[in-house]
Amino acid sequence: MTPSFDTIISGGTVVTASDTFKADIGIRGGRIVAIADTLTGAAEVIDASGRLVMPGGIDSHVHISQPSGEGVVMADDFDSATRSAAFGGNTTVMPFCFQEQGQSLRDALSWYHGLAEGQCHVDVSFHLIVSDPTPQVLGQELPALAEEGYTSFKMFMTYEGLKLTDRQILETMTAAKLSGARAMIHAENDDAINFLRDQAELAGDTAPKFHALTRPIPVEREATHRAISLAEIAGVPLVIVHVSNREAMEEIARARARGLKIYGETCPQYLVLTAEDLDSPQGAKNVCSPPPRDTASQAACWEGIEQGIFNVYSSDHCPFRYDDTAGKKHPMGEKSFRWIPNGIPGVETRLPILFSEGVVKGRISPQRFVALTATNHARLYGLYPRKGTIAIGADADIVLWDPERQITLSQDILHHGSDYTPYEGFEVTGWPVLTMVRGQVVVRDGTLSTSSSGLHIPREKPQA
Ligand code: URP
Ligand code: ZN
Ligand code: ZN
Repeated sequence: MTPSFDTIISGGTVVTASDTFKADIGIRGGRIVAIADTLTGAAEVIDASGRLVMPGGIDSHVHISQPSGEGVVMADDFDSATRSAAFGGNTTVMPFCFQEQGQSLRDALSWYHGLAEGQCHVDVSFHLIVSDPTPQVLGQELPALAEEGYTSFKMFMTYEGLKLTDRQILETMTAAKLSGARAMIHAENDDAINFLRDQAELAGDTAPKFHALTRPIPVEREATHRAISLAEIAGVPLVIVHVSNREAMEEIARARARGLKIYGETCPQYLVLTAEDLDSPQGAKNVCSPPPRDTASQAACWEGIEQGIFNVYSSDHCPFRYDDTAGKKHPMGEKSFRWIPNGIPGVETRLPILFSEGVVKGRISPQRFVALTATNHARLYGLYPRKGTIAIGADADIVLWDPERQITLSQDILHHGSDYTPYEGFEVTGWPVLTMVRGQVVVRDGTLSTSSSGLHIPREKPQA
């Protein structure tokens, strides 16, 4: 007799964004087809006793193979980044496809697709980065690409070659509104950063710690306020990514109180690192933007997680090697913090850090963990209900989680292309032990499946 299911996950505790319950899960053709007390009749039965059975993580903020300046090379390609993602319990990542000046969005996309094709261990779905919002890009390309499933894009208020003027932001937001795409923004005041940076360099203050000191909280708060005001003027929902502190959070809360659809994202670095981590001989390892702040900001971000200011928790995985002149030790970066490549690795450590610091320490429920790491990403970016939940008809994107396993985070156990982790020595309780993408086991007990089967997933237009 043919078995009813390809796979049954048996005896685990299923956690969704709304419920926790004991059940078996039946999988056929890569989808979840049954959820019941007891199921039988499968080619393979996976014993999940003592495990949490959760939707695989969706990391909606990762950078892979992104050009990052003269002589700088990102440490991950699609193979290593998605391998690392899979080991970290993720089943979908959303990398950015960066439009260079003068480039069409389609050209940018075809380059990234070429890099990703056949290389991915988990599913991927591209956001766009709009850096050159010409009438052609806004009037023709963005609307057409939104129809084809590229339904989100990021704008930058800082970084040479990426930053948009307020006028361009308004025009690009309007294109989001007309095409139904989701707008995201990196909110830091570029002029203020340049002013403070020039002053620091004039004073001879060039060490990595000055990266944080020249991007103080008002730089982020002002830009967050302005971004929200621009979204209000354009009449468009907006995601404020990588929020690092209370004052920026308060801007989001105030906007929501005015009835605006403003969403917030925070990241592990704002929960467990501080600016002091940049104040060491190896401080370049922790240079990212916005910078980690202080323990009061960490506490504020935890409040934002608990109270729902933050809808999503992402890694902002942006990996460079440390001991490498194409990475954090770029010769220019050795001269001044201005040139240290911005970004840190984190796709593999994102889930364990939130589980351990959030669920195990009693700050959030397991359901909220699932919402913040998977379901809300799917909802925000048009992947729901295909992804981000455990329900009949959903893709069988599942992580089995050992809630008691104790691990010391260390470069030795990670799978990214960087030669370090910012979280070296950090102790966590709770660890992913099996990652399944569309019914196929990708990682089991620390071993990667040999076949790469990640696909690019076109997305629906997001619901508000
Ligand atoms: O420092 C960071 N965050 N690098 C990645 C690029 C970005 O702004 O997200
Ligand atoms: Zn950013
Ligand atoms: Zn980023």
